[in-house]
Amino acid sequence: ADGTAQAPGRVLLAAPRGYCAGVDRAVIAVEKALALHGAPIYVRKEIVHNKFVVETLSDRGAIFVDETDEVPEGARVVFSAHGVSPAVVAAAEARSLQTIDATCPLVTKVHKEAVRFASDDYDILLIGHDGHEEVEGTAGEAPEHIQIVNSPDEVDKVTVRDPDKVIWISQTTLSVDETMETVRRLRERFPTLQDPPSDDICYATQNRQVAVKKLAPECDLVIVVGSTNSSNSVRLVEVALNAGARASYLVDYAKEIDESWLDGVRTVGVSSGASVPEILVDEVLAYLAERGYGQVEEVRTATEDLMFSLPRELRADLKKAG
Ligand code: F3S
Repeated sequence: ADGTAQAPGRVLLAAPRGYCAGVDRAVIAVEKALALHGAPIYVRKEIVHNKFVVETLSDRGAIFVDETDEVPEGARVVFSAHGVSPAVVAAAEARSLQTIDATCPLVTKVHKEAVRFASDDYDILLIGHDGHEEVEGTAGEAPEHIQIVNSPDEVDKVTVRDPDKVIWISQTTLSVDETMETVRRLRERFPTLQDPPSDDICYATQNRQVAVKKLAPECDLVIVVGSTNSSNSVRLVEVALNAGARASYLVDYAKEIDESWLDGVRTVGVSSGASVPEILVDEVLAYLAERGYGQVEEVRTATEDLMFSLPRELRADLKKAG
């Protein structure tokens, strides 16, 4: 802060930001299910980890539940983008629920890796956050073979049956840098540790982190739009701070911004997590523009054009509906 009268500030707007292909597909799946079958449509867990999205879909007739036993027998339920364990699928079957699986295909890919390496009797080290839905789903594919490693600090606690038959896999929404640090430490202990066949941290998580990393060193403040239970959004705040932003905060809505955050700030970075609709970013940009930060420059580090087709069950129903 130089104490002079308010100089016009600027905004560096990260790109890519916001919706990834898996979130887009999951949200559309619920919308289409509502349009085709009418309300209510049950959704197990938050379809994606974003308050606004969940509230909007609730208003339209989606009912969010924690577990399938809260869904009436025979009713229709959507599984969230984070995926489910085989036990959840079985529980839904036992209640004759009509399921629509909106698990992101990139999460399904990690499930398949878990199944394959478990059947080859590997010890599987799943790097990820214990208790996160995605980690519960993946770990549930092979509970006997999978151990969860939350952070680099947990590496020393890991024990395996055969140190030469160990593979790591990961949650899709982690910090790339921290995960690589965990892997480095694991490899010190298990030099023949195998890498997953392809990147488990997904393209969207990686791209959003790269963009924030690029703009953060120039920023006094980085505002990330996203919910506190959104793993990839929380990581963006960490990435911003690690890359040199003086301060960084996560907000669901523009109204959560505290004016005092702007004291002495000349450059504000803005990004949003993979589950965040662009309208919420627009509101943040409008808030900033009203306070002298009207000049917006996009900092783009990648372009994305990936799209996933809708869940199989829904495609079949849409076909029938003609
Ligand atoms: Fe899928 Fe990555 Fe989005 S795993 S849901 S594309 S954040």
